[in-house]
Amino acid sequence: MAFFRSVFTLRDLPDAGRPEICLSGRSNVGKSSLINRLANRKDLAKTSRNPGKTRSINFYLCQERYFLVDLPGYGYAQVSKTEKNLFAKLVNPYLEKRSELKGIIQLIDARHGPVGGDGLMLEWIRKWNVKALYVFTKADKLSAHDRAVMQKTCEKEYGMGNAVLFSAQSGMGLRTVEAWILETARQVEDDRAR
Ligand code: GTP
Ligand code: MG
Repeated sequence: MAFFRSVFTLRDLPDAGRPEICLSGRSNVGKSSLINRLANRKDLAKTSRNPGKTRSINFYLCQERYFLVDLPGYGYAQVSKTEKNLFAKLVNPYLEKRSELKGIIQLIDARHGPVGGDGLMLEWIRKWNVKALYVFTKADKLSAHDRAVMQKTCEKEYGMGNAVLFSAQSGMGLRTVEAWILETARQVEDDRAR
């Protein structure tokens, strides 16, 4: 996986042709950390203790075949004017109109479940005809008991195989996320070949 481009306006989106899989979630939920873990690198995607720093859509090219797309996070604290603007001008149009977008990985903090802007995002994903994987992050911060409870809740809410407990720290769930991404990219290629 290699950094490809930071996109600040829709004009700068890469040429069509490769499937895109995006990572969505609140600021600080662990999107960039998941990318780093997938890439097996510490600092490919910038991570930060200070939420809401990312102002661009960041594209990572994988195996020359598909893009992983790191979206800016939403709604950590009070929604600022800058964030509203960023979502209205860049992120929402990307999500709504980008035909190359073939899958979404929705990250949710395993300690809290869906909160704040997550509700809107989940609603929107359900209405929308795209493959989704729900990744519950920072699972290392849960006790084994809470993890087991969360796992059960997830299977009920999201369906078997559609949700995974993940930790960028320990690598828990990494193989499942990887497999889902490869499967999603492959499906698109198969459909195109037909
Ligand atoms: P924005 O770019 O602001 O939207 O945030 P992000 O979703 O990319 O979050 P990021 O990956 O930068 O992580 C935010 C903070 O959470 C960092 O301090 C990470 O080290 C920490 N973090 C991320 N994933 C994990 C995890 O699985 N376990 C633990 N313990 N900490 C994590
Ligand atoms: Mg980030």
